[in-house]
Amino acid sequence: MANLANTGGEVPAGANADSVVVLDFGSQYSQLIARRVRELHVYSELLPFDTPWADIAARHPQAVILSGGPNSVYEAGSPHPDPALWTGGIPILGICYGMHLMAEALGGQVQSFARKEYGPAVVSVIEEEGLFAGIEPEQPVWMSHGDSIARLPDGFRPTARTDSTPYAAVADPGRRLHGIQFHPEVAHTKRGREILRNFVLGIAGARPNWTPANFIASSVDEIRRRVDEHSRATGTDGRVLCALSGGVDSAVAATLVHRAVGDNLTCVHVDHGMMRKNETELLQTAFEQLGVRFTVVKARDRFLRKLEGIIDPEQKRRIIGAEFIRVFEEEAAKLGRIDFLTQGTLYPDVIESATSAKEKSAAKIKTHHNVGGLPDDLAFELIEPLRYLFKDEVRAVGTELGLPDSMVQRQPFPGPGLAIRIIGEVTAERLDTLREADWIVIDEIKAAGLYRSVWQSFAILTPLLSVGVMGDGRTYANVVAIRAVTSEDAMTADWAKLPYELLGKISSRIVNEVPGVNRVVYDISSKPPATIEWE
Ligand code: XMP
Repeated sequence: MANLANTGGEVPAGANADSVVVLDFGSQYSQLIARRVRELHVYSELLPFDTPWADIAARHPQAVILSGGPNSVYEAGSPHPDPALWTGGIPILGICYGMHLMAEALGGQVQSFARKEYGPAVVSVIEEEGLFAGIEPEQPVWMSHGDSIARLPDGFRPTARTDSTPYAAVADPGRRLHGIQFHPEVAHTKRGREILRNFVLGIAGARPNWTPANFIASSVDEIRRRVDEHSRATGTDGRVLCALSGGVDSAVAATLVHRAVGDNLTCVHVDHGMMRKNETELLQTAFEQLGVRFTVVKARDRFLRKLEGIIDPEQKRRIIGAEFIRVFEEEAAKLGRIDFLTQGTLYPDVIESATSAKEKSAAKIKTHHNVGGLPDDLAFELIEPLRYLFKDEVRAVGTELGLPDSMVQRQPFPGPGLAIRIIGEVTAERLDTLREADWIVIDEIKAAGLYRSVWQSFAILTPLLSVGVMGDGRTYANVVAIRAVTSEDAMTADWAKLPYELLGKISSRIVNEVPGVNRVVYDISSKPPATIEWE
C-alpha cells in the first residue's frame, strides 16, 4: 500500500495540533474513524497499516486507533502493524479486527466463533469508567464480526460484554490499551461519539486544538516557508498560479495561498460557458474583494465549437477536459515564469489514490474531470493546502477565511458543467435554456430552506420535445427534468422527497419563465442503479 504521508512535500495540516493516527486495516469505515476524531477537534490522519513505527512516532500522536478489517488475525498473510507499536507506550484503541490484533500480539487468543454477529446488538457495560465513563450500562451498538477473543492477554480485563461474547470491550488501563468489538464510528452505535471522546480526550489526553483558525495559521506559515525557500534556492520570485473553478475547494485553497504570498498568487478562471447563472460573476466579485489578482478567460465560443455535433457523454467530458488544459496553459504562458500551481485536492482523493488497487479493478463508470485537475507533466511544483481536509472542514476553513456563504456552502458541480446536463448536443441556446431553468430550481430550493440538506439539486435539459397548450395555442417544446438527491458522499444517493408544493412551484415557474419549455418532470431514481448526473 502506498504511503499517504506527505507526497506533495507538505507538512500535515495538523503539524501544530495534538493528533491521533488511525491505522487502516481495510475496513470500509476507516475514513469515518478519522472524521469522527476530527469532529472532536483533534487532528487525525489515516495511515496504511504497515506504516513503520518510526514514522508514526515522528508525528508525536497522542494515540493510535486500529481500524477494523475484513481479515482474520490468525490467517496467513493477514495485515499486521509494525510490532514496535505495542511497546511504544502510546494509548491504543483497537476496533474489531484492531482489537483482535492487540489481543493476539500481547499473548491472548482469537478464534472464529460459531455465533457471528452482524448488525445491531446491545452491549452491557461492566466498568462505567474509562471508555464508558458517563455511558449508560445497556448500549445499542453496531457489530460486524465473525471472530472473537477467546483468551485475554495478561493485564487485560473485560469492560463490556454481549450475549454472544464476554469480551465486547477489553482494557489494560495501566498501559492505556483498549479494545472494542463494535464500531463506535458508525451512527448505529448510539454513544459511539462519546466513547471515542472518552478515549481521545480522556484516556489519551489529547487537547481539542484542531480548529479552522489553527489550521489556517499553520498552513499559511507552511506555504510561505515553502515559497520563500524555493525563491531563495532558485533566485526567482516564487509565483503561484491557481485555476479557480467556482467550487468551494479551489476557492478556499486560493484564499489560503493568497494569505501566504499575496500578489505572488494569480488566479485564472476559465469560463467555458457551461457555468451556472451568475457563477463567474460571483467568483469575480468575491476574489476582487479579497484583493486577489484574478483573470477570467471568456472561452465559451471555443468550447462550443469543439462540442458541435457531439452527443456522446464521454466524448463531451474528454473534449472539455482537453480544451480546458489548452486554455489554461495558454493563459499561464502569458504570465511568464510560474513556480507553483495550487490545487484544491481533498483528503478523500489522497486516500483514494493511495489505496487505489480496488479502484483499478472497478469498472469505469464516468471519466471524471476536475476543472483544475491538470496533467502531471506541467512544470510546476504543487501546493495542495487542503490535501488533509475533508469537505466539511474545507467549508469551515472557508467561512473562517471570510468567504461568502454563497461560495462556501455551494453544492458540488461537475467540472464539465452544464454540458453533461444537456442530453444531446450542447448549443448556446440550449445552455441558456438550461441555465435559466437551473436557476429557478436553486432559487426555490433555497427559498424553501432545503439547499443545504439536499446534496445536489439541479435541472437537466432532455432531448425530448412534447406537445403542450399555452393560452389558446399548441406548443411543441422542451422537457426539463429536475434532479434532487440526498447523499453522504456521492457514492450512493437517494432521490430527495421534496414537498409536492415545492415541486409544483418549480414546475410552474420554469414553464412560465423559461422560453421553449412546456413540461417539467421529476427524476425519482436512486444511485445505484442510476447516477447523480444524467451523463
Ligand atoms: P455521478 O453522476 O457519477 O456523480 O453519480 C457523482 C458526483 O460527482 C460529480 N461529478 C463530477 N465532478 N467532474 C467533477 O468534478 C466530473 O466530471 C464529474 N462528473 C460527476 C457529480 O456532480 C456528483 O456530485
